[in-house]
Amino acid sequence: MEKSIKKIQADALKELEKASGRKEINDISIRYLGRKGVVTQLLRNIPDLPKSKRAETGKNANVLKKTLDQVFKEALKQLELKTSASDECIDVSLPGRPAVNGSLHPITRITQEICDIFTRIGFEIVEGPEIETDYYNFEALNFPKNHPARDMQDTFYISENIVLRTHTSPVQIRTMKKQTPPVRVIAPGKVYRCDSDLTHTAMFHQVEGLLVDENISFGDLKGILTTFVHQMFDDQTNLRFRPSFFPFTEPSAEVDILCVICRGKGCRVCSQTGWLEVLGSGMVHPALFENVDYDPERYTGFAFGMGVERIAMLKYGIDDIRRYFENDNRFLRQF
Ligand code: PHE
Repeated sequence: MEKSIKKIQADALKELEKASGRKEINDISIRYLGRKGVVTQLLRNIPDLPKSKRAETGKNANVLKKTLDQVFKEALKQLELKTSASDECIDVSLPGRPAVNGSLHPITRITQEICDIFTRIGFEIVEGPEIETDYYNFEALNFPKNHPARDMQDTFYISENIVLRTHTSPVQIRTMKKQTPPVRVIAPGKVYRCDSDLTHTAMFHQVEGLLVDENISFGDLKGILTTFVHQMFDDQTNLRFRPSFFPFTEPSAEVDILCVICRGKGCRVCSQTGWLEVLGSGMVHPALFENVDYDPERYTGFAFGMGVERIAMLKYGIDDIRRYFENDNRFLRQF
């Protein structure tokens, strides 16, 4: 009996050595340790042995069972390690993953488009600070202290006299203080208002325009802004000048374009009016010229200001301004 235990172990190891796959190893394991396996039979026969041999043989048979069990398990483990290592190897012949190119943000793109249109007709690009004094943001623009028009702008105050600029119009004053006419500038940049909904965010972008020279009339304003709208949208776009009010322009006009969605029939986007407001404008108020030491008898001019997000929304048919700032690539990739 002693001999046969050793032989069983030797046979099992020999068979295992020849086995290569998972199934073969499993089969050998079943042949030895399964319900009808060689070792199982051996253990089952122990009670029939002469009493003197039972204990010794039983012990050895149990050691054999444990040993083989470990050997088989180890063989399976090694096999698994080997295959996973070969599965994970790097295939250097595969084509590389393409690097994804970034692109300009739609707001950057539209800002550039607006600036391009105006630089082509002789305007120069200038910039001003986003943290602005009350003087440049309001006072010099003819907003008297405690004037209700200040409330229209939902201002973020940093201190009593320092604000986050609520519009790009302070750049008008900064520019006129720096140079003498003729002035032809556009000023793109970020502005801030305490406001938030489908069409308003606390930070947004404007482009300001200012032209000052001798003999500038409302006709020039209409001509330049009509050219702009035709180039920005298309040259069939109807527009209208609607009387409005700004403290720094007189007379003032808001420019509407015929709704790009319904072409004037009335829809959700234009609130059934058939028209979409795209910018504010007007003839520079003489009080501004006094503030920057220009002779109001000699010079006249016009100014305009537009929201970039709004123009982009109309041009691309986007109905929620917050899309621009969520940085969702599925949205941004479309431009
Ligand atoms: N600054 C105005 C606004 O933000 C727009 C504007 C600019 C109006 C220039 C007239 C002239 O609403």
